[in-house]
Parts: sequence; C-alpha cells; structure tokens
Amino acid sequence: MKNVGVTFRELDERLWVAEHSLKIAGIDFGRRMTAVLLSSGELWLHSVAHLTSELREQLDAIGPVRFVVSPNRFHHKYMEYYRAAYPEAELLASPGLPERREDLSFSGILGDEPDPQWVTDLDQTAFHGNRISTEIVFLHRASRTLILTDLCFNLPPSRPLFTRLAARALGVYNRLAVSRTMRRGMSDHDAARASLERIFEWDFDRVIVGHGDIVETGGREKLERAFAWME
Ligand SMILES: [Fe+2]
Repeated sequence: MKNVGVTFRELDERLWVAEHSLKIAGIDFGRRMTAVLLSSGELWLHSVAHLTSELREQLDAIGPVRFVVSPNRFHHKYMEYYRAAYPEAELLASPGLPERREDLSFSGILGDEPDPQWVTDLDQTAFHGNRISTEIVFLHRASRTLILTDLCFNLPPSRPLFTRLAARALGVYNRLAVSRTMRRGMSDHDAARASLERIFEWDFDRVIVGHGDIVETGGREKLERAFAWME
C-alpha cells in the first residue's frame, strides 16, 4: 500500500486516533480512525485508516488487533488490508454493509446493544431514523469520549480554501454540526430523537468525529446545539 502520511497519536489512556487526508474532487475533509485498547489487552479499531507500515508497527506495539469495526456503510475502506494483516481479527459491519462488501466476511452486524466482547470498555447504539445510513455510535467509557463518524462534522479554519467553502455549504464549518446532506436524510425525527436521547444518557465530554477537529471538551453542549434544528 502506498505510504500516505498517517498521523497516529494518543488521545487519552487506552485511546488513540490515526488521521490522514482524504481528497475528493479537491476537497479534503480528512479521515480519522479511532483505536481503543480493551481491558482484555486487545485492540478495537473503528473506521480504519490506511494501513501503512508505520501505522502497523505502532498498532502492533500496543496489542493484537482483535476487532475491526465499520460504523456505517461508507466507512469500510481499507478493511481488506486489516483482514490480510490480521487474519485472527473479527470484522464487524454496520447494517447494509455486507451487501456492499461481499469480498469481506463479517463476523457480525452491529446493532443497538454493545457487543458483550467489548461492553466493559465501550457502549454502543444505532442511530435510527436516517435513510442515508444507520450509523453505529460508540462511547469509550473510561475517557468519557463519544465516537461519531459522519453524523457530525467539525471542519476548522485551518483547512484549505475549497474545503472551507465546501464546509460552509454543508453547514459544518468551524462548529460541530450535522451536514445538510445528513439533515435531509433524517426521515424519521422521532426515531432519531430516541437515538439521541440514548446517547445523552451516556457520560461523555469529548466528541470524536470522522471528519474535522475533535471536540476535546464541552461535547455534550456542542452536540445538543448540533441537533437543535431537530427539536
Ligand atoms: Fe465519512
């Protein structure tokens, strides 16, 4: 695999992210993987990044890769490289993904309840009511971190001009927000609100997003504001 720049950094105890650029039509929203070291001593990977040799070394220094999770039907790129590199790992799919990735064998489909294999460390729920995708949302309990993928973006002023313009057009510039595309996809507000209520039952302060800056603190209030339009 070609060596693109992947930045791997520790965010908290037993919690890391790997970030790299992702250019689509000249717009760079970036892309983020989240890695959690489970109490079992094994690694749980969410929305995996390019598996460069450097990233592989960094992961292998932490622990064996046990779970590779695709949180929605868009974030499944690179999973094949993890399947090849870690034959013992389990690949878990979001609803609708197995039909799109018949080349991969998944050991399960993620749903509303946390998998018993990681429930000690992570809570999870499906975010219902969106016809674009049913995203699975996670909570890393120990670090009080909510892990989102495409439900909210948060693109900062440091991004290049065209990316900033695109972020403005999508309503996700310089704030944690649901993109206009995702808003249009919210076809069942009652179901979406019920999923949101479940998320707000969790204890979190930080919010990781798949694209854009991580909200390091005050994540609850920012998430409330991000969904205020749905009231
Ligand atoms: Fe995405």
